[in-house]
Amino acid sequence: MSESIYGLKRTHRCAELGDANIGEKVTVMGWTHKRRDLGGVIFIDLRDRSGLLQVVFNSALNQELFEKAESIRSEYVLAITGEVVKRAPETVNPKIATGEIEITAQELRILSRAETPPVYIEEDSDVNESVRLKYRYVDLRRPDMQKNLMLRHRVAKIARDYYDANGFLEIETPMLTKSTPEGARDYLVPSRVHPGKFFALPQSPQIFKQLLMVSGFDRYMQIVKCFRDEDLRADRQPEFTQIDLEMSFVNVDDVLAVNEGFVKKAFKEALDIDIPTPFTRLTYKEAMDRFGSDKPDTRFGLELVNISDLVKDSGFKVFADAVKNGGSVRAVNAKGCGAKFSRREIDSLVEFVKIYKAKGMAWIVVEENELKSAITKFFNEDEIKSVLERVKAEPGDLICFIADKNEVVFDSLGQLRLELARRLDIIDNSRFNFLWVTEFPLFEYDEEEKRWVAKHHPFTSPMDEDIALLDSDPGQVRAKAYDMVLNGVEIGGGSIRIHSQELQSKMFELLGFTQEQAWERFGFLLEAFKYGTPPHGGMAYGLDRLIMLMAGKSSIRDVIAFPKVQNASCLMTNAPDVVEQKQLKELHIKLDL
Ligand code: AMO
Ligand code: AMP
Repeated sequence: MSESIYGLKRTHRCAELGDANIGEKVTVMGWTHKRRDLGGVIFIDLRDRSGLLQVVFNSALNQELFEKAESIRSEYVLAITGEVVKRAPETVNPKIATGEIEITAQELRILSRAETPPVYIEEDSDVNESVRLKYRYVDLRRPDMQKNLMLRHRVAKIARDYYDANGFLEIETPMLTKSTPEGARDYLVPSRVHPGKFFALPQSPQIFKQLLMVSGFDRYMQIVKCFRDEDLRADRQPEFTQIDLEMSFVNVDDVLAVNEGFVKKAFKEALDIDIPTPFTRLTYKEAMDRFGSDKPDTRFGLELVNISDLVKDSGFKVFADAVKNGGSVRAVNAKGCGAKFSRREIDSLVEFVKIYKAKGMAWIVVEENELKSAITKFFNEDEIKSVLERVKAEPGDLICFIADKNEVVFDSLGQLRLELARRLDIIDNSRFNFLWVTEFPLFEYDEEEKRWVAKHHPFTSPMDEDIALLDSDPGQVRAKAYDMVLNGVEIGGGSIRIHSQELQSKMFELLGFTQEQAWERFGFLLEAFKYGTPPHGGMAYGLDRLIMLMAGKSSIRDVIAFPKVQNASCLMTNAPDVVEQKQLKELHIKLDL
């Protein structure tokens, strides 16, 4: 039978005890991490969220208590009262914080028994993730999961304090709302009261926070759930959390500065790591040219080199044609890989870039007195010399080339760069390289729909110097948009917004909305802009991603208490699930599966 805690009061968490408590009578409560029976003496490692504490039951001191302790098994929940004593020097355990002390038990209550848990309660236990997620409540007992969620709490608290100190107000925005414009598929909620009508769960509070600026709140922040029905990856969940903010009367520099301040404070206070500010800024163009990515990982080199001008007139048609057709030829010098990689390994790189739509990958292995390559025969000596010079080739290097339209060259070489760094194991995981990517293109051409779409969202302001290009050359228009990037992950993004109704209407028009469609979807925003709108801008962090990187994890599932799996379901609750016919009827919904 489970015993109660009647008359008992916990005095400390396990790992709060130390030398200073020696001689005190204390009461601790927690889970049985381990039980060791050494014949006549039983040691229990008791665990709570603070850590571990050793408790000793000695048959010579109290036979009855000892016998009760013999029935304890892993994960039993116990209350123990006893005296804190110093351990003998030879029994000190330097691996745990309370390793210098132990408790001599005087009273034991077994508050709850437990079956053998399906998940080992160990740091980084390698149990299959689907088992961990099915029994998430047990999995969350693991010390690293406890640490991750405590870190998450700490950073959320620092965010609230920091933005509060900088004049931001936390204001909630609705969850039951209309479709918002972040470009993913909506989660819909049928309305019982309005048959045939649906709410959409917000993809972000974007429109509401802009309306709060119209209302004069000046600086808004919110730690808020967002919902997007999109394909999941390690850094994407269907519901995720943003630290969302918006500011009035600001330009790009103001938004960036206040957020650099937040990151600096969060890393200092939560991890005691100094982040230098201001962050490096790269324009979108420079990020693409150098790294082939708008979220570059700058913890290592292997930068892209454009050699289009050197090979555009060469005899190698693949290269010459790519340039002629408006694309480019770029290279990455995989330092030392010529000497390191076997032919098979190089072939596997060729296969790797094909994932990213490259049609092939040409390469040159640079040796002391010769070049090994299938393509050198197509070039004259000057061409080869100038290419090798441009990529700073040295004996032992492997030079990889891709020729295609820019989009494919950037994507495949950008990914190749990351793959090389992984294979070479040259990424320093102790580094936190923050940077801003700025001046994103305002539009992106959607090949399928044959129209321009907003790269960020349709409320993003064009750069003043590019407004003239809106009609003549939309593809060249840059936006007052920025992303915060950490170690190759986009952890936040935002923009200065359009605050004039005319320009906003024009944007909708360029994006292919008719007047009616624009008013139907975003009419309340356009209407609001008629009544006095301050210039404003803001951004949103992906809190899950930020914590993932701070915790040194590679999936946001590790920093979310109850995440969903790849197919957007919850293995623990089995959601989404079927509902009763009666509920569907109330909602006027008939299934057609
Ligand atoms: P954006 O769509 O870039 O901007 O989102 C902001 C940040 O949220 C994170 N994020 C995600 N994290 C986990 N799972 C997802 N499915 C997911 N989608 C996005 C990313 C991203 O940088 N309203 C604008 C912000 C603004 O303009 O102020 C917005 O939502 O880290
Ligand atoms: P091919 O003449 O098609 O056999 O190609 C000769 C070499 O060029 C091979 O090593 C191919 O992998 C490479 N190659 C083919 N297409 C491209 C391309 N678009 N960019 C770079 N290299 C390519």
